[in-house]
This record gives sequence, structure tokens and C-alpha cells, in this order.
Amino acid sequence: MANPTPHATVPATMSAMLLTGHGDIDRLVYRDDVPTPRPGPGEVLVGVTATAKNNTDRKAREGLYPVKKGEVTSFAMGGEPTLTFPRIQGADIAGRVVAVGEGVDAARIGERGLLDFNLYPDARRDINLTPDYYGHGADGGFAEYVVVPSDQFHHVPNPELEDAELAALGMCSYQTAYHMLTSAGVAAGERVLVSGASGGVGTALIQLCRILGATPYAVSQPEKAEALEALGAEAVIDRGELEGFAQRVLEATGGAPIDAVMDLVGGEMTDCFIDTMIQDMKARTSYPRLSIAGASGGNISEILWTRIYLYQVQIFGVSHGTRDEAEQLIAWIHSGKLKPVLHATFRLSELHQAERYFVSRGSNFLGKVVIVPDRQWEVHGAPFALAAPSSQQESRP
Ligand SMILES: NC(=O)c1ccc[n+]([C@@H]2O[C@H](COP(=O)([O-])OP(=O)(O)OC[C@H]3O[C@@H](n4cnc5c(N)ncnc54)[C@H](OP(=O)(O)O)[C@@H]3O)[C@@H](O)[C@H]2O)c1
Repeated sequence: MANPTPHATVPATMSAMLLTGHGDIDRLVYRDDVPTPRPGPGEVLVGVTATAKNNTDRKAREGLYPVKKGEVTSFAMGGEPTLTFPRIQGADIAGRVVAVGEGVDAARIGERGLLDFNLYPDARRDINLTPDYYGHGADGGFAEYVVVPSDQFHHVPNPELEDAELAALGMCSYQTAYHMLTSAGVAAGERVLVSGASGGVGTALIQLCRILGATPYAVSQPEKAEALEALGAEAVIDRGELEGFAQRVLEATGGAPIDAVMDLVGGEMTDCFIDTMIQDMKARTSYPRLSIAGASGGNISEILWTRIYLYQVQIFGVSHGTRDEAEQLIAWIHSGKLKPVLHATFRLSELHQAERYFVSRGSNFLGKVVIVPDRQWEVHGAPFALAAPSSQQESRP
């Protein structure tokens, strides 16, 4: 492991991948003359060793966060879009503190940590009303260095976790997953249907259900069933065939109702998810609950409102989560309760290739793709590259 870089040796410029506008991957431009940021009061400068990719990188790049039909934009909960160009994307950052700003203890230099990716609007710990994040409203980790708030760069010494694995435990997936569960009030003993199960958020949901004492049923593809069961899924329901979906879920649960659905898919599947919960209302002990945080299968769902209100389906829209939730997740990482699901690493200069790979992924893909700065590659990237013997192309539960 490379020694931490002392402040004095931080170079004036760095390599970074700049997003230069909304559009295709040609809008991503690799440069090695980007000014290295300097930490302000209360901030730390992190030497990035690994940054996990998320779906949001592509969606923000393509402007796929409309709140009105036909819009090409990224989200702007505070009023104005915060994604301006050029922007360095990459939210789930692992690395080491290499310099500190005014008011931050210099003893933090050298500390290995993981970023809580949120640009929180205020200091409140239990609510986050205008979700925004590093890599969107401020520069992120597809670079050699990034400046972040000291209190959001959490020390994670755990020697059993390599940096790329730590990035794979990043908050974009894990905090969203946790907030989906807390929003729906998922409790021990409940049965939870997890869609998009093999993805970053889905694999986090499966693990978090188990931590909470709930039983996760995964919606995925048959080729991934073994790996998902090894991760903690009670059973895997094939998402390929919508006909008879609710019945197949009931077969998997032995006839018991699904208490809550974690919907990352949307489109026509959402109606099937509601079906699974309202099949037999007399068998239920709680209201049907649907947490929605993604739309991998389509941004529009046609649903009869009568099905929602007559069956009293409670719907929770979820984006990111709170400071308290991030800190709980860090505690679970410290105690080894959360395991990384790292699929592969790519060099920062090969981010275009990683983007293409991420979008056209094969059916054996589980978990996270992690980007490593070229200068850090041999230590932090090479052991997990696609071609490397230790690379986990199927799963790493
Ligand atoms: N609201 C938030 O704060 C927040 C935060 C993070 C992510 N998200 C959103 O949540 C979703 C999942 O994110 P992620 O990072 O987990 O993505 P991911 O790693 O790309 O995983 C998405 C998974 O969804 C499934 N899927 C893909 N296309 C599908 C389709 N057409 N129909 C049904 N299932 C499909 C696949 O799993 P299987 O093959 O196992 O079915 C895939 O692995 C995305 O829409 C993302 O933008 C939202």
C-alpha cells in the first residue's frame, strides 16, 4: 500500500475525467492538467484511490432526470440545476486524506476513508429534502484528488477491505437502499421483495434486509440466482416473464404475503409489484408498502389509482438518505456486517470503456464497477481488473 502523500507533495495539477455537457460518452474528456483543488475551512483534500460507478453518472450525463415530460436535465431540487460543466463525476469515493483545511485536525492526514456522497442542504441529521451529491452539484472522484467536508469523509481502517472494495460499499447505493427500507418502516420478520437485485442498490438491499432481520426475495435473472442467494436472498424470482409474476412470488414465499416492495425498476413491473402485495388482503398484517428509488425498466408506469387507494398501498419516493443513516452504514462497515460486491475495476483513463461495459453488461454481472486513477492502478485497480485472476466477474458476496 502506498504511503500517504504529505501536503507539500500534492501536485498543482491532476488527471481527471471532465464531463463537458449533457450527451453521449464523447462528452467525457480525460485531462492531466486540471488544477488540484485546495481544501477550505472544515474540508479535507482526499487522494482518490477508488471511486465506484453508479447509474446516476450515466443518467446525469444524458440529462435523464426530468421532472416534467420531455425535459433533458439533471435534478434541481433547490430550484436551479446544480450540474454545471465542466464537472468531475463519481460519487462513491475511497481514498486517503492528503491535506486538511483550516479547523481540521492535521492528524487526519494519512487516514483511509469513505465519503458520504451527499451535498447536504443543512446540518439536520434526520432529513435531507434536496438531495444532491459530490460528482453532480460539486466535483467528485473521477480524478486524482477531491475536496470534501471533513465530517463526511469517514475513517474506515478495516484492513480486510481493499480500497476498491471500500468504494464498492459507497453511500450512493447503500444509503439509498437503507432509506428505502426505513421509509417503508421495514421491520424484523417482514418479507421484502427486492427488484434490480443484482445492481448496486439491489445487492445493498439484500444485505440490509438481513441486518434488519427481514427476509429479502430477489427479482432478477435465473443466471444470477446462485450468487444472489449466497448474498442473502431467500429466493430469486425471474423478472423475464410478467405473466403470473405475483403467483410465482407467492410460491417462493410459501403463500405468505410480501410486506413491502423495493422498486428500482418502474415501468410495467410496478403494477406487478403492487399485485404481489394485494393478492390476499386478509392474509396481511400491515398496509402494502412500495418504496421507489429508481426506474431501470422505465420512467412511466400505468397504474389504476383505485388499486392504490382501495388497497391502501403506501408509496414512498426515495432519494439518498440522511446523515444519521450514513453513519449507521459506516458503523456496519466497521463491524464487518456489510460485504462489498465488487464486479471489476477500470482505469480512470478508460472510463469511456467502463461506461460502455456498464450499460451493455452481460448476464453474469453483479454489483459494482470501480474506477481507479491510473497512477494508483497497480496497487488498487489491477487485482480486481476483469482479466485479473482475482477479479470476481460473477459475485463477491
Ligand atoms: N433515488 C436514489 O437516490 C438513487 C440512488 C441510486 C440509484 N438509483 C436508481 O436506482 C436504480 C438502480 O441503481 P443501481 O445503481 O443499483 O443500478 P445498477 O447497478 O445498474 O442495477 C440495476 C439493476 O436493475 C435491473 N434491471 C436493469 N434493467 C432492467 C429492466 N429493463 N427491467 C428490470 N430490471 C432491470 C438489473 O438487475 P437484475 O438483472 O438483477 O434484474 C440491474 O442489475 C437506477 O434506476 C438508479 O438510477 C436511485
